[in-house]
Amino acid sequence: MSHRKALIKLIEANGRTHGSWQVFSDFVEMAAISISNAVDWAQRDEREKRYMEVVRKYEKDEAVRFSHMLGELVEELECGPSDVLGAVFMEMELSSKWHGQFFTPYELCRMMAGMMVDDHMRGLIETRGFIRANEPACGGGAMLIALAEEMKREGINYQQHLHIVAQDLDLKAVHMAYIQFSLLHIPAVVIQGNTLALEERSHWLTPAHIMGGWEWRLAAAERQSEAPVQQITVQPFAAPEPQPTAPLAVASPPQPRHPADQLTLF
Ligand SMILES: C[S@@+](CC[C@H](N)C(=O)[O-])C[C@H]1O[C@@H](n2cnc3c(N)ncnc32)[C@H](O)[C@@H]1O
Repeated sequence: MSHRKALIKLIEANGRTHGSWQVFSDFVEMAAISISNAVDWAQRDEREKRYMEVVRKYEKDEAVRFSHMLGELVEELECGPSDVLGAVFMEMELSSKWHGQFFTPYELCRMMAGMMVDDHMRGLIETRGFIRANEPACGGGAMLIALAEEMKREGINYQQHLHIVAQDLDLKAVHMAYIQFSLLHIPAVVIQGNTLALEERSHWLTPAHIMGGWEWRLAAAERQSEAPVQQITVQPFAAPEPQPTAPLAVASPPQPRHPADQLTLF
């Protein structure tokens, strides 16, 4: 059985008492909080309180299943970037409960992303060090995950050369995108809020964003945007091949804390 199927079975098992839609929602919320609380201490207390509120609804054996769900998700993503949660969401036919939302099929996302990874992108990375991608209605993050995958396929290390800002009105979508970006070690800020109204309710910072010193890198890039540029070397993706028993992607060796170690020049 694939890890995705195993994840669905675990959601269904808890769903017998609580409903699959509620279990899926609680799973993504608790997983997102668990990741966030490991790195984003400024928001930790409030998020931990919310985690306890959610987990208390479940019996002990049901609560344990949530950790197995996260394990299955990690294993599935270890096989390579993809929108696992979007696929689970659509496969379980949960969209009718979620205002009838549908996510773009991942293969279509990949086709579109493939058109963006070109010489222009490579040139931007060679002169500025990274590219920024923005998704104002990100859903589970499929478009951006596909972008990371296509960069990787073209030999560009997205963990070093891509920064994402993604936004969605719906907190469940925010949680889905945040978990997947985090496990793929994509530097990203996921915002819950109404993009059209320029409203931002909460920010979710991925481990790669925090450990990679991206606040500093982005601010420095802003300051130096007018400065003369020099050529830098685009780093190939050098992450080890995923192993079936490998730990969480977020537990991979931390990036250098000082952002200047990561780039020759912005
Ligand atoms: C059809 S889904 C597409 C998601 C994703 N881009 C994809 O292609 O799979 C549209 C998403 O837009 C979000 N959305 C709708 N109106 C929004 C708004 N004003 N601000 C932010 N997100 C919004 C919804 O919550 C939903 O997740």
